[in-house]
Amino acid sequence: MSSYDVIVIGAGPGGYVCAIRCAQLGLKVACVEGRETLGGTCLNVGCIPSKAMLHATHMLHEAEHNFATMGLKGKAPSVDWKQMLAYKDETIGQNTGGIEYLFKKNKVDWIKGWASIPEAGKVKVGDDIHEAKHIVVASGSEASSLPGVEVDEKTVVTSTGALELTKVPKKLAVIGAGVIGLELGSVYARLGAEVQVIEFLDAITPGMDAEIARQFQKMLTKQGLKFTLGAAVQGVTVKGGKATVNYKLRKDESDHSIVADTVLVATGRKPYTTGLGLDALGIEMSERGQIKTDARYATNVGGIYAIGDAIDGPMLAHKAEDEGMAVAEGIAGQHPHVNYGVIPGVIYTHPEVANVGETEETLKKQGRAYKVGKFPFMGNARAKANFAGDGFVKILADKDTDRILGAHIIGPMAGDLIHEICVAMEFGAAAEDLARTCHAHPTYSEAVREAALACGDGAIHA
Ligand code: NAI
Repeated sequence: MSSYDVIVIGAGPGGYVCAIRCAQLGLKVACVEGRETLGGTCLNVGCIPSKAMLHATHMLHEAEHNFATMGLKGKAPSVDWKQMLAYKDETIGQNTGGIEYLFKKNKVDWIKGWASIPEAGKVKVGDDIHEAKHIVVASGSEASSLPGVEVDEKTVVTSTGALELTKVPKKLAVIGAGVIGLELGSVYARLGAEVQVIEFLDAITPGMDAEIARQFQKMLTKQGLKFTLGAAVQGVTVKGGKATVNYKLRKDESDHSIVADTVLVATGRKPYTTGLGLDALGIEMSERGQIKTDARYATNVGGIYAIGDAIDGPMLAHKAEDEGMAVAEGIAGQHPHVNYGVIPGVIYTHPEVANVGETEETLKKQGRAYKVGKFPFMGNARAKANFAGDGFVKILADKDTDRILGAHIIGPMAGDLIHEICVAMEFGAAAEDLARTCHAHPTYSEAVREAALACGDGAIHA
């Protein structure tokens, strides 16, 4: 039996970051992971492989659409699907191997296998029982199931199967116009698939600022994605390698169906806590299957904590990472704090879409007086040169104090640009603070400054 200060269960972005932070703070720590490689869903079958596919297919799109205009002549590249998957796997390997290196460097023990918690203070892996003063559950999430839809990861796939298809489907049906559906739908549309997205609600990307969502849908439609909104999927049947998706239009209850080679089910994720023994321990769970925790990530059972997708809040790798650091620091006696008001969200399509803080809709609901500063990338010199003039930056600021309340960007590098606004919000900045900060020319980030200027006396280039 080995004994630790902390055992972390799960080596996704929440768990591995927590384990490394514990080690940095002088705690003896182990991390239990049952997969063959570290990094969890994000590195193995989520964020990282999908970004490799988005990058590769974006390059293809650029070659097909913009190279000739820039005087780059020659045949457009053709797709070697096997090699593209190999490139994706190589990217995964580099990242998961990197975490293994960091574990060794920080002296974090990797206990290989699936963990359960027979009692507080003990973690069972295989036949071994390990002791720990503190146990952190970072077991993540899994794809939600949809009634009437059976996933076989071949014809009817989740994001995991969508990253391993044996060939590019001629027709791909995507159920759910959320982050996964739109990112992977974009990948296959760029590869020549006919992509039909079926969404329950009347708009894509629920929760996103409505103006941005409308613009986003227009841009994706221009790229060839087709949308059926207000449609509730009733079930999928598979016959002879083809799938039929049956759905009801909510406005008139009429029945419809489409036939596709592959169906991607992207209707959300749910916490994964199977096999941990949480029920027997009496750990309190929410109705949605999330582990209930207090502000320090402690469950109702002493010495057991939980973070990441297994608890409340947005299911985002970076949210889990922040909680991983915070729980480690709390265990080490520090007083950490995660600011849930400033957690950015990014969709890595082209263009990217990024947001932080309030939307116009949430501000209206709160009855708050706000002002809007907007700037189109068409007025940004760098964006124009790079075929990236579509989209805009929108900053929402308090009408009286000018304090930044939220920001929404659709355009080039939006996922990176959002962070200067996150930092500004973290420091309680006013839009004028951003507007008076010198921004290098020519950069995309000038569009952020211009939007901040538009909250005051006006943008210069609009
Ligand atoms: P999501 O919650 O983003 O979107 C699911 C969509 O499916 C919603 O629009 C919902 O209205 C729709 N839907 C549900 N039931 C339906 C039905 N019966 N018929 C038609 N439509 C239906 O979930 P998604 O895209 O699966 O992503 C799961 C999680 O993973 C999210 O929390 C997301 O934030 C996270 N993620 C984040 C990424 C990023 O940050 N770039 C990338 C991929 C995933």
